[in-house]
Amino acid sequence: MKLFSFAGSLRLGSYNKMFAREALRLALESGVEGEFADMRDYRMPPYDADLETSSGIPESTRKLGQKIRTADALIIATPENNGSISGTLKNIVDWLSREQPVSLRGKHLLLLAASTGALGGVRGLWHARVPFEVLGMHVFPDMKGLPNAANAFNELGRLRDEQTLSQVKATVTAFVAHAAKG
Ligand SMILES: Cc1cc2nc3c(=O)[nH]c(=O)nc-3n(C[C@H](O)[C@H](O)[C@H](O)COP(=O)(O)O)c2cc1C
Repeated sequence: MKLFSFAGSLRLGSYNKMFAREALRLALESGVEGEFADMRDYRMPPYDADLETSSGIPESTRKLGQKIRTADALIIATPENNGSISGTLKNIVDWLSREQPVSLRGKHLLLLAASTGALGGVRGLWHARVPFEVLGMHVFPDMKGLPNAANAFNELGRLRDEQTLSQVKATVTAFVAHAAKG
């Protein structure tokens, strides 16, 4: 089985990128393959139907769609912005939805969030589920929010807190087992 992981943040020091990478690392311990991608390498303009008519779907969207097609399951960590999905992630999803067939359809998805706040971005995750479910993804029932993310990772990008690490590992391992059933 092959995993593909990315974050709904463009920021260089993004905690969601760290969380997505750390979750992927933990998943790889189950013996699956996987790859992380930084969305700074797949920059997309704000969705504009006129732009799509004049220039088509951006090359970055097509490249990302190709990566998704080669994966069986995705792990996405997204910031919560104003209680909802990050604009960056929603824009990526909207562009991806314009490709036919939609690369996301039928794939398994684990949603994560990292936030500098105390709630870990879990409110945004309930909103984040919706477009992925609308597009026919199998969104894993369990989601995981990481609070106080600014202090959560060590210099290697590993989760510092043993209890948090084992909880994330348990969620990721259950997701991989679920996705492996097809
Ligand atoms: C416009 C904006 C809105 C935000 N809204 C929320 C929010 O509703 N809940 C929350 O926990 N954090 C919120 N934050 C804080 C983010 O969780 C924090 O900036 C986080 O580090 C962003 O993710 P990143 O590190 O992956 O870039 C917001 C930040 C910005 C810039």
